Amino acid sequence: MLLRLGLLINGAAAALLLTPVVRYLLAPARKQAMRSDQAWVTLGPLEQFPEGQTRLATFTNPFRHPWDGETADIPCWVRHIRGNQFQVFAINCAHLGCPVRWFAQSALFLCPCHGGVYYEDGSLAGGPPPRGLWQYRHKIERGALVILAGRLPTLSESARRECPPAGSSCA
Ligand code: FES
Repeated sequence: MLLRLGLLINGAAAALLLTPVVRYLLAPARKQAMRSDQAWVTLGPLEQFPEGQTRLATFTNPFRHPWDGETADIPCWVRHIRGNQFQVFAINCAHLGCPVRWFAQSALFLCPCHGGVYYEDGSLAGGPPPRGLWQYRHKIERGALVILAGRLPTLSESARRECPPAGSSCA
């Protein structure tokens, strides 16, 4: 009985002493996991995006919180150029972030806030935005379009984090 009690107390003491050591050893892996703020998210089967058209799609923020509600549903514009060539644009204007609208008749994205205009490939056509639309990295997986989603880029981060502003596919 005393032997078992001694083992139990020693085991508890060892666990208490080892906990900070284990946490110290795992800290780099935990930091790396916290830094990862992007994840691959499916937008839907390729058939949802007819060739030659630009369609609105919505995905759920992979890092949503329970209190996010509908704000976790994020829209984006999908342009199916041809074959397996796609462009996926953030809906937010590169000026101050208003949602841009696609006008198929004029083949332009227009921003309702300050008149920013973008060509169909997301490049800047005019207005105050300093650059073209942000693009999501994307790939095709098992017949579905998948994008690398997460925290939205900022102007200062854009060069490091995402695709070229426009005019080229971002796979
Ligand atoms: S937010 Fe789009 S032009 Fe200002």
